Amino acid sequence: MEKPLVLYIFLFYWHFLNALFTVEAPQSLYTVEHGKNVTMECTFPVNGEFRFRDLSVSWEKKDESKKQVYALLKGEEDFKSQHSDFKGRTTLLKENLNLGQSLLQITDVKLRDAGFYRCLIGYGGADYKTINLKVKAPYKTINQRVVSTGDNKWKLTCQSEGYPQAEVIWKNRGYEDLTDKANTSYETGSDQLYRVTSTLTIKSRIDEVFYCIFWNKELQENTSAVLHIADSADGVLWAENRRFIGASLIATALFGSVLLFMVYIRKARAYKDNRIPVASSSIAKLSKDKDTHDCSDASFEDQELKYMQIEKN
Ligand SMILES: *[C@@H]1O[C@H](CO)[C@@H](O)[C@H](O)[C@H]1NC(C)=O
Ligand SMILES: *[C@@H]1O[C@H](CO)[C@@H](O)[C@H](O)[C@H]1NC(C)=O
Ligand SMILES: *[C@@H]1O[C@H](CO)[C@@H](O)[C@H](O)[C@H]1NC(C)=O
Repeated sequence: MEKPLVLYIFLFYWHFLNALFTVEAPQSLYTVEHGKNVTMECTFPVNGEFRFRDLSVSWEKKDESKKQVYALLKGEEDFKSQHSDFKGRTTLLKENLNLGQSLLQITDVKLRDAGFYRCLIGYGGADYKTINLKVKAPYKTINQRVVSTGDNKWKLTCQSEGYPQAEVIWKNRGYEDLTDKANTSYETGSDQLYRVTSTLTIKSRIDEVFYCIFWNKELQENTSAVLHIADSADGVLWAENRRFIGASLIATALFGSVLLFMVYIRKARAYKDNRIPVASSSIAKLSKDKDTHDCSDASFEDQELKYMQIEKN
């Protein structure tokens, strides 16, 4: 006779307590950048003095199969049941528990961490809430390269890593779309990130500017880099030096002919007037001029002119 009554009272209390015991999620959606830390929060009521021994906390991830992210059973942490995806990356911030806050920190967030999490709390009663975690990987750092292939032709390359797949759009100074002249390739890099490389092959004069824009449609985010052809002074110098040397050779030849002609005239006159010719200083000056011009053609080749990194925030 006594047993059903005890059970009845227990069930009554359990329902009564459970009705009072509600877990809340102040924020039901978290968006975090790949590689950063995230702290997700659930709150529960603590009436009176906090009793750690009575507390059970469980964070689970709802994937194809349920994954245990973190477990605290009656005040004891249980890492044996933790899924390998989260090994060494979760911390329950214990100092906040007595305030009724269950704060779970996940460090070095991976793309695969994205999804729905359930925080269950048992403390007298029991309840849970669901939280959505979104992970984004913007194309932040764009590596760029400008290569001259001679004859006013240039190979411009932009490369970056992110998620999801980004389109690469090319524009010139006038914001004309040059994307159809570019070639973009996608590789899968570390942790599901896409390594996107785009190369634009274009004929351009110097002192020109081009833009590569990584358009992450899903995140509605654009990151871009500016490529200056003007800054790539080496290739330009090479072309100009060639011209300068050509011109100075012609000038030297002309000057030489004139000089020889003058020497000849003077000689002829000297012969006639019986005077000594004085052309040696002019000849010395000529050879000195020639020397200064010759050394400038050092070692210019078609080559990589510039390689730099732009950090965008
Ligand atoms: C993430 O948390 C860990 C451990 O608390 C810390 O060492 C690290 O600096 C944090 N990283 C970032 C990006 O805040
Ligand atoms: C893009 O690259 C592929 C493979 O390297 C090549 O076959 C194709 O001709 C290239 N297209 C353009 C427009 O450069
Ligand atoms: C990103 O750039 C593309 C191409 O220029 C444009 O169509 C799109 O509207 C831009 N999106 C945002 C969010 O700025």
